[in-house]
Amino acid sequence: VIVVGGSQQGLDLAARVLLDSGDAVWMEEPGYPGARAAFAAAGARLVPVPVDDEGLRVEAGERAAPEARLVYVSPSHQYPTGATMSASRRLALLAWAARAGAWVVEDDYDSEFRYASRPLPALQGLDGAGRVVYVGTFSKTLLPALRLGYLVVPDALVDTFRAARAVVDRQSPIVDQAVLAEFLEAGHFARHVRRMRALYAERQAALVEAARHRLDGLLEVRPAGAGMHLVGWLPPGADDARAAAGALAAGVESRALSRCALQPLPRGGLMLGYAAYTPQRIRRAVERLAGALEGGR
Ligand SMILES: Cc1ncc(COP(=O)(O)O)c(C=O)c1O
Repeated sequence: VIVVGGSQQGLDLAARVLLDSGDAVWMEEPGYPGARAAFAAAGARLVPVPVDDEGLRVEAGERAAPEARLVYVSPSHQYPTGATMSASRRLALLAWAARAGAWVVEDDYDSEFRYASRPLPALQGLDGAGRVVYVGTFSKTLLPALRLGYLVVPDALVDTFRAARAVVDRQSPIVDQAVLAEFLEAGHFARHVRRMRALYAERQAALVEAARHRLDGLLEVRPAGAGMHLVGWLPPGADDARAAAGALAAGVESRALSRCALQPLPRGGLMLGYAAYTPQRIRRAVERLAGALEGGR
């Protein structure tokens, strides 16, 4: 385990250690812009690979860029669509990576907030070939300003990652690490996550319910088994950047799905974060969002 300054730094380190300029990288499409930025900064050639309800479409990646050096995935809760990667896709991805000698970067940014079913094993735990670099963070479970995350890397890469990490900024702040370690050891972290999980499940339910009442025909909001945001799908053909701008003008912040994509998407949508808001504020925001979307039609 290598302690890093949040998962963004973990992604950046993985890019520096694992990639040479010009290497092909499979990116989930749509996917996390921060990961895209880290791999692009290392000079990678980004290859969009579509996702569906089962996560990354491995066979599409194999067709598009069989020579890829690295694959970026968020299997426990795909960012931004919310899909959980199925067991068969997980095995297919690992089998391909072992065959191709490619690296898999597993970004597990919010798996602690799983509401419906039991989590599937992480790719890192299933990997018998030493191809997976797992990226975890305390950003979502505690607070983004903490800047503490961790990498779980294959044995063969530990020294290289350790050296690269020291070059960036020696080490993460020791006082923050000591406080966090005590917080974990005393059981506060597990209690906090349990409490937040119940709270966020309630907030998600409030968003789904308010959307059912007020956004019918405007935005299709489906419940999700995990995470801190939902995707509201716009009617086919609608421009999500325009919808997000309209929502913002009405006081509702969202992220257009197209901002997470390298290519035009078949259907636009808005990412709606619910974890930080009470059900009452969520209902008010949905009301405003409905007004903005009705006005934009
Ligand atoms: C998918 C994903 N990966 C990584 C990060 C970065 O997290 P951190 O604050 O730990 O750098 C985020 C933050 O929003 C994220 O959504």
